[in-house]
Amino acid sequence: MEKWSKEELEQVLAKRDGNRLRRLHEQIRRSSWRARYHIQTVTGLMNDPNGFSFYGNRWHLFYQWFPFGAVHGMKHWYHVSSTDLVHWKNEGLALKPDTVYDNKGCYSGSAFVKDGHLFLVYTGNHNEADGRRIPYQMLAAMDEEGHIQKLSRPIIKPENGYTEHQRDPKIFTENGYYYILLGAQDNEKRGKMLLYRSDQLADGWKLMGELKVKGYDSFGYMVECPDIEKIGNKYLLLFSPQGLHGKGDEFRNAYQNVYMIGDFDAENLIFTPDERYKELDRGLDFYAAQCANQNVYTDKAVLEGWFGVSDYSYPPTDEEGWANLLTLPRELSIENGKLMQRPAAALSSLKGKLLFEAADGKIKEDHMYGRTPDSAVIELNNPTGGSVSLELFSTGLHKGFSISYNHDRGYFTIDRSDMENQVNTEYGSSRRIRLENGLKSMTVYVDRSSVEVFINNGEYVMSSRIFPTVREHLLRMSGKGINMKIYNIDLAVSDDDALFPSWMESVKK
Ligand code: FRU
Repeated sequence: MEKWSKEELEQVLAKRDGNRLRRLHEQIRRSSWRARYHIQTVTGLMNDPNGFSFYGNRWHLFYQWFPFGAVHGMKHWYHVSSTDLVHWKNEGLALKPDTVYDNKGCYSGSAFVKDGHLFLVYTGNHNEADGRRIPYQMLAAMDEEGHIQKLSRPIIKPENGYTEHQRDPKIFTENGYYYILLGAQDNEKRGKMLLYRSDQLADGWKLMGELKVKGYDSFGYMVECPDIEKIGNKYLLLFSPQGLHGKGDEFRNAYQNVYMIGDFDAENLIFTPDERYKELDRGLDFYAAQCANQNVYTDKAVLEGWFGVSDYSYPPTDEEGWANLLTLPRELSIENGKLMQRPAAALSSLKGKLLFEAADGKIKEDHMYGRTPDSAVIELNNPTGGSVSLELFSTGLHKGFSISYNHDRGYFTIDRSDMENQVNTEYGSSRRIRLENGLKSMTVYVDRSSVEVFINNGEYVMSSRIFPTVREHLLRMSGKGINMKIYNIDLAVSDDDALFPSWMESVKK
């Protein structure tokens, strides 16, 4: 990998970079790992989804973005939008680090609709001349035309008693007030969440205290990207703690994104969980998810996650100059006290040609000729509850990416250890879940360099990146009495230069 100098890592996008970005995009667009229906970085590196919201009849999403290469350099916000959560349009640069308060990056944050504007709340990562880091919580307003104006001063300054790690504001309303939930690390290096309150957006923010999560004193050594969502009459608390250790089959990734369902008493800063925290996603690559601020659903939340993990690298695409996707948007509901996660309903509109069908274990249609389609959805019903195995992107000798359910042992397993391109192997290459009630159904979304498995109609999700080579293209399956349909998925996130908008116009200098 090429080495990046400090100056290169600290580049801020300027008008003169237009052609350079176009060239970078032209180069990565040819990659066989570019997604066809996932939001992916336009150039360089993306990480967390930010500012996810519904405003002006569209869904808006921003992502952490270093424009110039597959490294965690100076973070900008890039903007995409959609009417249906499925077809996404590149809108261009949203925020760049061009003020003293965000001179080392516009870090993660959220969005809120008010008075005809979309307000963006984010962390200004400030560095002093001596390198000392100071986090500021900042505000910006976007209008219907997509013009963004930053407020020239922070709305929240760093708090004593906590280290320089205070970031990722999630804004929401409760009891007639605005609240911000902020990730933090206290001076004893413990992960905390802070709650701020105000009756206005731009002023009056006051620290109410730490969110007290009953039964817990702290979470690891740092909490990133906290979020709280009302779903029906329950609350869902999400956060990405750092420093949790693996337990059996759980928490095996470098960092995890966890959730708890419970009750929230904003007045007294108390969250009372119904159960211990669990991982949102049990796959190999998932972190820093965020729910949309939206008024479309009251009994559901809409979630987007980063299809990656901090500190991981993905050399196959890094070497091509780009890194990362976001996961498919998911609808979250609470059913019988359990969190259910299903792909956004509109995804079914992307289903194209039926490529394969088996009923009661017998093949009825097959237009795949033994190959794994690179952009498809596989729907499986398992009425007998027996063992099932699927090997995607396999070869005559190698299993490729395997998905299997062992009925006798009750384990559902995903495994990428038999693929040519290996990534982040120090955290293991497979994950498994013991399914208490067996495998009834699964839906697998394959999109060139990613596989998302939804198990038992949303009881579990396992999201993983893969980088199949040209030799890895076969598909093998087995399972008695299964019903399976495989559909092609149409292009929904265009990576075409014609749709790469003249967005450099939005770059002021
Ligand atoms: C999570 C995170 C956030 C931070 C952002 C910086 O991946 O580290 O805490 O705001 O990424 O890009």
